[in-house]
This record gives sequence, C-alpha cells and structure tokens, in this order.
Amino acid sequence: MKNTVLTLQKQKEEKDKIIMVTAYDYTTAKIMDESGVNTILVGDSLGMTMLGYEDTLSVTMEDMIHHTAAVSRGVKEAFVVADMPFMSYQTSVYDAVVNAGRLMKEGRANAVKLEGGVEFAPHIEAIVKASIPVVAHIGLTPQSVNAFGGFKVQGKDVEAAKKLIEDAKAIEAAGACMVVLECVPAKLAERISQELTIPTIGIGAGAGCDGQVLVYQDLLGMYGDFKPKFVKVFANVGEVMREGMKAYIRETKEGTFPAEEHCFKIDDSVIEKLY
Ligand code: KIV
Repeated sequence: MKNTVLTLQKQKEEKDKIIMVTAYDYTTAKIMDESGVNTILVGDSLGMTMLGYEDTLSVTMEDMIHHTAAVSRGVKEAFVVADMPFMSYQTSVYDAVVNAGRLMKEGRANAVKLEGGVEFAPHIEAIVKASIPVVAHIGLTPQSVNAFGGFKVQGKDVEAAKKLIEDAKAIEAAGACMVVLECVPAKLAERISQELTIPTIGIGAGAGCDGQVLVYQDLLGMYGDFKPKFVKVFANVGEVMREGMKAYIRETKEGTFPAEEHCFKIDDSVIEKLY
C-alpha cells in the first residue's frame, strides 16, 4: 500500500512509529522500499554522502532533481520527500513555490522538505496552496551551519526551547504535513510531539518523536568521515563491501574468477576455423 500524507497522519494517531530513511539512487531506494520503510528522504545530505562536499551548501536544484527522479523510479510504496537545497527557497516565496514545483514535476517527489521555522511560514503556506505537501525541518538545520557557528544541539535554554515550540506551532499552522526535529533535547522533542497534531520525525531528538530518520550510510556503517552521537550502526555494510572487494581482487589476480559458469560458450569448430 502506498504511504501518503493520510496514512502517515494515521500512524501518529495510532502511535505506530513512522520510519524514514534517506536514499539518493534507484538501487538503494528499491531496497529501502522493499524493506518496508514508510518514507524515503532524498536529503541534501547527498552533498556529503554522495558528492563528497563538507556540508550541504553547494547542493543545487539540478542535483536534487537528478537524485529524486532516480529514487522515485525505484519506489512503489514509500512516500518520497525531496529536500529543497540551500537558496532554492530562502530568496523569496515565489522561488520557493517554483522550485518545490520542479521537485514534484521533474523529480516526481510526493512532498518537499525545507529548513526553518516561523520565518518560513509564508513559504510553507504558499507551497501548500499549490497542492504540494511540505515537511518542515527545525532544530539543527544544516543549511544554517555558518549562522549557528557549527553543528550544535538546539533548544537547550528556556528562550531557545520556547522559540522551537513557537517554530513548530507556526509550521503546523502554515499547513506542513510533518516536521523533522534534528538535534533537539529528548524531553523538548517529546513535548513538541505531544503539542502538535502533525507527525514529528526525530534525528538526535529521542524516542518521544512520532518517527525516526537516519542517513542510510550512517545506519549501515558505510560513511566513516564523521559519526554523530545519535547514530546507531545497525549493520556493517561498509565492512561487507570492503571484504567483497578484496575477494574480487584476490580471485581475479589468482585467475579463479571468472570461472566456467561466468563464461559464454562457443563451438570448438568455430575457433578451429580461425587458424
Ligand atoms: O539531508 C538530510 O539527510 C536530512 C536529514 C538528516 C533529516 O535533512
């Protein structure tokens, strides 16, 4: 069954945790979809995990459309959310609607995600008016890394915690269908999850959220550049890949690969006539 804004909302109401994971290509999206995740995020984290940048700021609309379209082709049931890259919506409400529309039309996403709270309520409202579901993202918003002065836990003092609650409420009032809470203290994220009617998806925000999201290379032990505190490695796929590559190199050098079963046959008489 296809996951939609309605089924995700129902999951919150029934206290059935929503599972979100990132994917950036057809093959991985197909595996994630077949595993039974509810939603796939084509995150601008692809700037780091797929393109090797040090942050998300260089990711373009073209990058996001290219990867979102590949993911959409691999998915049957998951709800596909595409990140709006840095400067694709901050510049104006008009740009936000135009670029959200491109991710839906060219990327075939089911929703777009943008970073920011109360300041971006007009942008969210306009995109939603264009019949495009919006997932908001508050707390640690990586596109603001330079303004924050680094990747830091957000909402730790009274003023900052109040601002996060205000942001969450403004986002909901503007019509967002979900909100990602990144690097928010667990008790505060739980409180926000209780106060909102829309689902909250946590990353570094504790178990009190309505769902969880992780970057797939993190949860599968494939991305070694940096490991945030909130990441749990569920399977060491990176190690399995390294072992597989070593076996391929060894057997090829030994001449045991390719074996007979990997080769195409030709009648000996054809070979004989060549000399
Ligand atoms: O880009 C991304 O992968 C994200 C998640 C970390 C929520 O925004």
